[in-house]
Amino acid sequence: MPSPQKSTDNNKIISLNGCDIHFPDEKHFGRIISGYIGETEKNFILTDINTAKLCLPLVRSQFPGFDESRVITIDSGEGEKNISSLHHIWSFLLHHGAGRDSCLLNLGGGMITDLGGFAASTYKRGIRFVHIPTSLMGMTDAAIGGKTGINIGGVKNQAGTFALPEAVIVMPGFLKTLPWNELLSGFAEIFKAALALDHNFWNEIKGLSLNETERTAIISRLENGIIRKSIEIKSEVVASDFRDQGKRQCLNFGHSIGHAMELLKQGATKDIPHGYAVAAGMLCEAFISKLLCGLSAKQFSDIEKCICVNFPKTKFEKKDNDGIISLIRHDKKNVNDRIMMSLLKAPGTCMPGVDCPEAVIREGLSYYFKKA
Ligand SMILES: NC(=O)c1ccc[n+]([C@@H]2O[C@H](COP(=O)([O-])OP(=O)(O)OC[C@H]3O[C@@H](n4cnc5c(N)ncnc54)[C@H](O)[C@@H]3O)[C@@H](O)[C@H]2O)c1
Repeated sequence: MPSPQKSTDNNKIISLNGCDIHFPDEKHFGRIISGYIGETEKNFILTDINTAKLCLPLVRSQFPGFDESRVITIDSGEGEKNISSLHHIWSFLLHHGAGRDSCLLNLGGGMITDLGGFAASTYKRGIRFVHIPTSLMGMTDAAIGGKTGINIGGVKNQAGTFALPEAVIVMPGFLKTLPWNELLSGFAEIFKAALALDHNFWNEIKGLSLNETERTAIISRLENGIIRKSIEIKSEVVASDFRDQGKRQCLNFGHSIGHAMELLKQGATKDIPHGYAVAAGMLCEAFISKLLCGLSAKQFSDIEKCICVNFPKTKFEKKDNDGIISLIRHDKKNVNDRIMMSLLKAPGTCMPGVDCPEAVIREGLSYYFKKA
């Protein structure tokens, strides 16, 4: 697979296996979208209730003739990433005459890009789609790399496709309305990409102290380098392993335990943001990395500090251990009933496919609970 191509055009940063990733400012935003969607009557927009209110007006302003009835709006939240939302989108497209030449614009966070990507890549065996991520998680991770999916029976991403959008249009201006907890959530995947794959980037960002009072300065740092760097790291690894059979699995660091924690909490009270669960998962898996892969005490302590300073503690009780272990057993990376994790040898050096005995995972969870 070729390496991702970096463009000299300021508005187009990377071409990843035919998918153009753009980084326009508000002035160029409309021109970039227009280049992909063509006639507005063949196009549809998928939003959730928040992005319909806060992000859609900017898109609509570029296409004054866009027919309101072509906007599909679903509820927000991880609970919507399911088969009935998928069915709703397929039916909507069918009843509104979407054809093979239609294009679906997915305007939202990772829930919308995962779900909309799946819907578009399967409707009539696949129509064109473009992601316009509006959350930090979407911009730096979920919209990049062509994984789509839905959750089934409370288990994450059990059905999906590998399908690249025609383009991803990353406009950090959308972050202005993103709630603070969702901004923090996005940072978890940025820390993860650095820890798994780029030691220098980790050294650059590990000392960040993310405080809401500094919101404007933080968004400015995101706009001026951090988002681009995260996209470059992810694109590089996706280009070398699109189907997730080797190096791409490094990006699962923190996710075996993180996904289980996220699902255990879903619906219980209020969902925890995906990134908070990933941050908790990274801390447990860093502890396990120390036990199994040679992560040093100093390296672990840097990770612990970064996560504890920046992310609120996810409230679990000891009795949740069995539920977490049982959910980890559904992880797609497992082989022959053995739990496989992507763990760290050192920051920037990840080992995918490490066989983790249940007893060691329980040690990692106990460490996290004691840290409470
Ligand atoms: N496909 C992948 O490679 C990949 C990678 C990472 C995460 N994901 C998936 O992404 C999802 C998490 O993404 P997320 O954190 O963006 O969740 P999300 O899409 O649920 O968005 C979080 C919240 O922010 C709101 N929101 C989004 N943009 C906004 C804006 N500009 N202003 C105001 N509110 C806004 C949403 O309405 C929602 O309430 C999970 O389902 C996860 O599994 C996928």
